[in-house]
Amino acid sequence: MRNGVIAVRRDGTLALMNDEAYRIFSMTRGLDDMGRPFTEVLRTRPDISRVLVSAFELSHLPNRVELRLKDVDRVIGYTLSQVKDDDGQAIGAVMYFKDLTRVEQLEERERLRDRLASLGEMAAGIAHELKNPLAGIEVMAGLLRRQVPASKDAQSLLADIMSEAKLANAIVVEMLEFVRPIRLQVERTDVADVLQQAITLAEQKAKRGDVKIDVNLASDLPVIDGDQHQLCQVFTNLVSNAFDALEGKGRVAISATLSSIEEDPTFAQSHGPTPTVVVEVADNGPGVPSELTDRIFNPFFTTKPQGSGLGLAIVRKIVDAHDGQIDLYSSPETGTRFRVTVPVASASGWFKPQRTK
Ligand SMILES: Nc1ncnc2c1ncn2[C@@H]1O[C@H](COP(=O)(O)OP(=O)(O)OP(=O)(O)O)[C@@H](O)[C@H]1O
Ligand SMILES: [Mg+2]
Repeated sequence: MRNGVIAVRRDGTLALMNDEAYRIFSMTRGLDDMGRPFTEVLRTRPDISRVLVSAFELSHLPNRVELRLKDVDRVIGYTLSQVKDDDGQAIGAVMYFKDLTRVEQLEERERLRDRLASLGEMAAGIAHELKNPLAGIEVMAGLLRRQVPASKDAQSLLADIMSEAKLANAIVVEMLEFVRPIRLQVERTDVADVLQQAITLAEQKAKRGDVKIDVNLASDLPVIDGDQHQLCQVFTNLVSNAFDALEGKGRVAISATLSSIEEDPTFAQSHGPTPTVVVEVADNGPGVPSELTDRIFNPFFTTKPQGSGLGLAIVRKIVDAHDGQIDLYSSPETGTRFRVTVPVASASGWFKPQRTK
């Protein structure tokens, strides 16, 4: 049963409270809860008691109302109704409710996505305009270099101009990549191949130094439906971040396992657990300071002098496009671990809001 249900009698005693209700309220069922005054059983949830009391007082009972349970950080949507006897007297009340927390989170993500889309359009325009003059600067500095072969100072200044222009151009290219709407070219993708390729590319992107890499792949790893190229970019970015964090010494552990997502109780049309592949990229570096964990996925957030801050923003975008999820676990003692979860079969919709209304 996916709905929470609470039924109370007119005398204020609890007649029924189902398991889902206990779960949503983060309560454990007491042996003698039934028959006790509901205000007592729900003493940690006075907001719910208040709603139940109101069921006997209001002439129009609320239908589909949202209520935020602050201390457990949940949102529920509830409906109240009265139970009447043959004479039309209210002898009890029932509250039906659903945990809407997940739906809320998805809506929040949707809003963020919309905001990024319009921001992205503007950024794409700017990036496009910048590309040409930057290429021009690089080419002309190169021409000028040939005209002043004798001057050492001029040579080194012009070399600096060229490398700065190159850097600026690389950022613009990355930015264009970030703001461009993602179109996945879904094909049968071997995760092991993708990871191998990502390690090679990461070595070109960042300094590996003496960093050791352990790769641990489950033997039952299936081929997944995904965009090989873009998934490769996800892991390239994660591994190169790990190299950056380790500054030449330490360990990167990469693992891939088969797992599954339980069906989400918030959504009606679930079809049982969805098989997923979970890839973890962990390093024993300094970790991400806890005050930054909310920000590192933001575009342009970087703590590196030469960073563009787009690496993780692109990662998240690609993972999202695969209906996947990315989680970060980090501490100064253990280092940083990124967990990427993607469904084995595309279009499974396990992470897309399949709203019931
Ligand atoms: N493995 C990690 N360990 C510690 N900090 C990390 C790790 N990965 C990311 N970060 C932090 O997150 C920030 C953002 O990372 P992101 O990949 O988005 O950008 P960047 O690496 O700074 O620049 P870019 O990847 O565009 O060159 C980094 O600057 C760093 O502070
Ligand atoms: Mg990066």
